[in-house]
Amino acid sequence: MKFVLYSDIHAQLAQLEAVQEAVDKENADKEIVAGDLVMLGPDPGPVVENIRNRKNCDVIVGNLDVWVVDKRWEWMEPKNIYHEWMMNMAKDTRERLTEDQIQYLRMLPFTLSYMPEPGHEFFIFHGTPHEVGDTSALPLTLSDDEVKDYIKDVKADIMAHGHIHGPSIRQIGDQTIVCCAGVGMSWDGDPRPAYAVVEYLGDGKWHAETKRIEFDTEKAAQYNEQSWIEHSDRVAKMVRTGYFWNPDHMPH
Ligand SMILES: [Fe+2]
Repeated sequence: MKFVLYSDIHAQLAQLEAVQEAVDKENADKEIVAGDLVMLGPDPGPVVENIRNRKNCDVIVGNLDVWVVDKRWEWMEPKNIYHEWMMNMAKDTRERLTEDQIQYLRMLPFTLSYMPEPGHEFFIFHGTPHEVGDTSALPLTLSDDEVKDYIKDVKADIMAHGHIHGPSIRQIGDQTIVCCAGVGMSWDGDPRPAYAVVEYLGDGKWHAETKRIEFDTEKAAQYNEQSWIEHSDRVAKMVRTGYFWNPDHMPH
């Protein structure tokens, strides 16, 4: 059984369509979107519409989708000016979605699980197995022991997540962890949009691969710069360079 996965679209429609063109050629049995459909980009409505109309596609929610759904700006004090910027963006994003689209995001599950054969599970989450990504993440800077602590209750052979905006495959003991992020922007220094392929080969064997696609990042960066987003230069910088816009305040 072949799965194709991507995440962290962040309201970037051009990157999404480019990734889907590559994804369609994979002829996978199941397409999976591992959260963060909106925020950080100019086109939340068209991205939600695109995803909800995909055939044979299962979707989970990401932490920034939750911000938009639960109106984070109404009940949480911003920790700093950057946090306040993000909260304003959540509000501005929500204003660009229909009630129907917000309801779609609200109903998305936090995790997914597939078992192509008894005893051989593939588990998908956005941030960490137990939390959507507001307070925890699995960046590559964590040691194997630190990652083990996060996954100690997970029995799956293989896991996939989004959130850290840099595709990777990590082996922890006999378990594999795949990061399939991201579509909209990367933080690992390579601005090309990414996705992942995970295939169950039978007899407990899995194959995992991450892929990047060629994409006109400069054109997309300029489109972001000219958009409605407050401090759109920050988002454009990430799209253009593949690095987080503010190295002094990395998200995790
Ligand atoms: Fe994200």
